[in-house]
Amino acid sequence: MTNNYFPDGFLWGGATAANQIEGAYDEGGKGLSIQDVMPHGITTPPSGTPTEDNLKLHAIDFYNRYVEDIALFAEMGFTVFRFSVAWSRIFPMGNEDEPNEEGLKFYDRVLDELDKHGIEPMITISHYETPLHLARRYDGWSNRKMIGFYENYCRVLFDRFGSRVKYWLTFNEINSVLHEPFLSGGIATPKAELTQQNLYQAVHHELVASARVTRLAREIMPNARIGCMILALPIYPLTPNPDDVVATMKAQHRSYAFGDIHCRGEYPGYLLRYFRDNEIELDITEQDREDLKNTVDFVSFSYYMSLCETADSSRVTGAGNIFGGVTNPTLEASEWGWQIDPQGLRVVMNDYWERWQKPLFIVENGLGAKDRLVEIDGVRTVEDGYRIDYLRKHLLQVNEALADGVDVLGYTSWGCIDLVSASTAQLSKRYGFVYVDRNDDGSGSLERYRKKSFFWYRDVIRSNGAALT
Ligand code: BG6
Repeated sequence: MTNNYFPDGFLWGGATAANQIEGAYDEGGKGLSIQDVMPHGITTPPSGTPTEDNLKLHAIDFYNRYVEDIALFAEMGFTVFRFSVAWSRIFPMGNEDEPNEEGLKFYDRVLDELDKHGIEPMITISHYETPLHLARRYDGWSNRKMIGFYENYCRVLFDRFGSRVKYWLTFNEINSVLHEPFLSGGIATPKAELTQQNLYQAVHHELVASARVTRLAREIMPNARIGCMILALPIYPLTPNPDDVVATMKAQHRSYAFGDIHCRGEYPGYLLRYFRDNEIELDITEQDREDLKNTVDFVSFSYYMSLCETADSSRVTGAGNIFGGVTNPTLEASEWGWQIDPQGLRVVMNDYWERWQKPLFIVENGLGAKDRLVEIDGVRTVEDGYRIDYLRKHLLQVNEALADGVDVLGYTSWGCIDLVSASTAQLSKRYGFVYVDRNDDGSGSLERYRKKSFFWYRDVIRSNGAALT
């Protein structure tokens, strides 16, 4: 059996995003974000205005219950909490000159609370919640002007919170723009009308913005650590046929490119070739090339599943979340069809470490499952052994990667408290250690209950991973 390789100071905690927990969509001077008009997640086109069937409008009311929730995280022993700032709470339209003080004050209070419990904050600056005005008026990241709006927003965050926030992530799952342009890039033009040229130009704007604010962060907060955030998805060849292996390599490139540019500061050759082969000509200025040289301090990523790839289109079957892909015949899947592959986490960690030689941070991982609230000895709880099993197997693979010599800063499991799903906008797809009494029809008391996994995770953290084995 492998020893415990989790180093002293390894950061343990959980992760969330503003639009999936806060609610209060029109309180405190907040403007609308794209999420406020996405009542059904990514499965159907956005509606025109907020409608009450959208669970995100009130979510789990973290906006008013953050004190209780952070106390629960502290009870589990969290040493880090990843959350996002809602851009439209700070700049209701996204591009005003002056920020909304009430929005800033909310995050001041959240940071005070984390500080009280000795929990290190990690902020995602943009997590699938572009201000709606920027999507409608500018077509989101299709427009170069977004770089300036984003930079202005970041300057305000860095000036205000820089003295107490060390870890910053520029864009959640930046590689998802190619697949979900509205969700990820606030691009209002329907996906079917967007060409590869349009998508890669939008990606380019985000990459330049990410690099520019990395430079800005270093000027304003010399002790901060800036990370990119990638949706990690190891892809295996469906068969040993070299055609499948090459198809796999090309599929991997579509995600590697984002880490390569963030870590190496320039476009990789394989992507330039893809542009040539597909007659894609991007508007890249000399200043852009200079800006891109501001590379990140660490690489963070989400990991939920792996996929397969084949060159044989007759063997393609649907699988996966945002990316789609080919089903792996050897793996089982969650109730939502996400294939469960703990070893894939070790694979991706080794891969990223060898490729970029930057410390890694696992900022999302977890099982979305239907939970049943029960009463045991007068206490309401959820017997979620399936979640413990999933997380334990994945954390054991993190231990393996640590044993392999991979440098890992920490682990934040996704949705440490139940929240609204990004892809399906359901509450019944639960990830948390804490159960929130709210249902898909909006009913429920919003009371919080500790699940069995709550106590399990507390023991894992307390033992710095030793309790896993
Ligand atoms: C990631 C996102 O893609 O997966 C999160 O960063 C999201 O916002 C998570 O919630 C899980 O996906 P889902 O669709 O189950 O909520």
